[in-house]
Amino acid sequence: MLNKYAMAAIAMFGFLNVTAQSNKTIVINPDKIIAQVNPAMWGVFFEDINMGADGGIYAELIKNRSFEFYKPLMGWTKKGTKLKEGDLLILNRQEKDSNNPRFLRVSSRGSSKVDLCITNEGFRGIGIKKGLSYDFSVFYRQSSSGVKLHAELTDSTGKVVGSTVLVPDKADGNWSRQSVTFIANETIEKGRFNLWFEGTGQIDLDIISLFPGDTWKKRKGGLRGDMVQLLADMKPGFIRFPGGCIVEGHELSTRYQWKKTVGPVENRKLIVNRWNTEFAHRAAPDYYQTFGLGFYEYFQLSEDIGAEPLPILNCGMACQFNTAELVPLDELEPYIQDALDLVEFANGDVTSRWGKVRAEMGHPAPFNLKMMGIGNENWGPQYLERLALFTKAMKERYPQIKLINSSGTDPVGERFDLLNTSLRKMKADVIDEHYYRAPEWFLSNAARYDSYDRTGSKVFAGEYAAHSAGVAVVTNKNNWRSAIAEAAFMTGLERNAAVVQMASYAPLFANVDAWQWAPDMIWVDNLKIYGTPNYYVQKLYSLNKGTDVVDIHEDNKVIAGKDSIYASAVTDKTTNELIIKVVNASSSAQVRDISLAGSKKMAAKGKLVQMQNSDLEAANSFDNAIKLSPKEQVLKIKNNRISMDMQPYSFNVIRVPLK
Ligand code: AHR
Repeated sequence: MLNKYAMAAIAMFGFLNVTAQSNKTIVINPDKIIAQVNPAMWGVFFEDINMGADGGIYAELIKNRSFEFYKPLMGWTKKGTKLKEGDLLILNRQEKDSNNPRFLRVSSRGSSKVDLCITNEGFRGIGIKKGLSYDFSVFYRQSSSGVKLHAELTDSTGKVVGSTVLVPDKADGNWSRQSVTFIANETIEKGRFNLWFEGTGQIDLDIISLFPGDTWKKRKGGLRGDMVQLLADMKPGFIRFPGGCIVEGHELSTRYQWKKTVGPVENRKLIVNRWNTEFAHRAAPDYYQTFGLGFYEYFQLSEDIGAEPLPILNCGMACQFNTAELVPLDELEPYIQDALDLVEFANGDVTSRWGKVRAEMGHPAPFNLKMMGIGNENWGPQYLERLALFTKAMKERYPQIKLINSSGTDPVGERFDLLNTSLRKMKADVIDEHYYRAPEWFLSNAARYDSYDRTGSKVFAGEYAAHSAGVAVVTNKNNWRSAIAEAAFMTGLERNAAVVQMASYAPLFANVDAWQWAPDMIWVDNLKIYGTPNYYVQKLYSLNKGTDVVDIHEDNKVIAGKDSIYASAVTDKTTNELIIKVVNASSSAQVRDISLAGSKKMAAKGKLVQMQNSDLEAANSFDNAIKLSPKEQVLKIKNNRISMDMQPYSFNVIRVPLK
């Protein structure tokens, strides 16, 4: 698979100095259109890994809010001078409510906090912002009034930085929900939440919840605003959700089942997150999926930020790295029905069964679903035979829905070869390729798709990232070494837009205190966020995707690693601009003239947006969030020719109006 420059590129990357040379010319012909760019070409991959959903973008601040973790009081501590055995009991109404069986029964005799109090530690602490409002809500049941609930936010020493009192107004023996809003008066990164009880009596509590007031679009019970904003800023073409291996489950019983993630939040049955103990060295036994971020919210998020929804569904196989459980072929029907019903949920009329569910959740208009993945990293003949049944049913009922098929875990090897060959024979719409590889692999594979058949199945680069230290090892860094290698590789994706129709870096989010997998595109703590250099590379591609790929070459050859230079070009017919992407992956500046062939001319002024750092280990951080980020400058163009002195280790995006 190595192209003929591969060895040179590998050698140069970080080790070899290339002497700057002049009189080399990159020639672009904007008249020569090679391919159309799919408007949804550059997207994002979302998975609830690294506390990306619960403890991440789903803004709930209370961990184990409904006492359903395997230890019912995980995340909670109880204290109080009047606390006696039996004062705080976990009850289980399994028969009456199997989705949300447990609740807390409180018997109070308190008059102050020291008497009886429960404290929640949040997801590695609770981020508290001075001046921000917080919505506290709870489901309760009591037969007579008498107990008031005091909700407090505190710092780690217990100092109160915001509080409120909730006086339950019903006492009819039925479950009710009540909420109250209060303001915090200090900023604390790792705060806590107290709930203490005043008065004498018994009260049952469930779904004790706290959301910040600055959620995305200020939606109650919504998503973390700063995290969605970084996605929105990228203008991604699609959102792939909910994963990833989480689709498959460790075993079939813990697979992702979208129907269990829609409807009222309190009815969504929580399950363990498959990443909680997957990596022994990064175990997170308190990692669960509440599905507060469920399929409705994924569709809504996609719509909010102008991205096509791309759901991936289980194909009747559990993760083949784990149990590898299979659904017998003659029992696959409910899985296939889930896929068909998802189209109805997303697009169906409000009178249809699942369209009605969507409408009742607040979205009568369709979500306009156009594509769906069947299986994540599944492989083998078992995958092919299950996929065939899904495909037949889907194409019969919804022929317009494009199906994404898996090519397994790796971009080469026996598994890949079997699937790639078979899927192409089956005339797969789109084949999902994954590559978590060393930066050098990305450099040496920039020409990977140049030889792919233009007329057959299309490719979705559905998960990829350059791993600087080894696949998924804890020492991987989101450094410039990995990001510039991805930028170089992506010139090859862009050049081959006739084949590669979508691409997404993976994974998307990581909580600094609770991650399992690195590298990741965006890192958060309880209060802050930063995009990695890899994020900015993705963003640059997405914001500069253009509409048509045009011919670009040097010495009549594609530019895919010779002298460590990688380049691609697109035009944007809506703005009549030429957009050139050039990566210099060598340690020396390199001089190139860029000139045009064909009928078009460049305007006298354009702009250069550049990411550059001479230190390949350089990275962003909370304290220096934009150290590696695009910097813009004016570019003067003389006589239809750009003279580029390309900085060492630089990714350059040039935008020039055409005449
Ligand atoms: O992105 C992390 C994991 O990598 C995904 O869940 C899986 O599809 C891949 O192996």
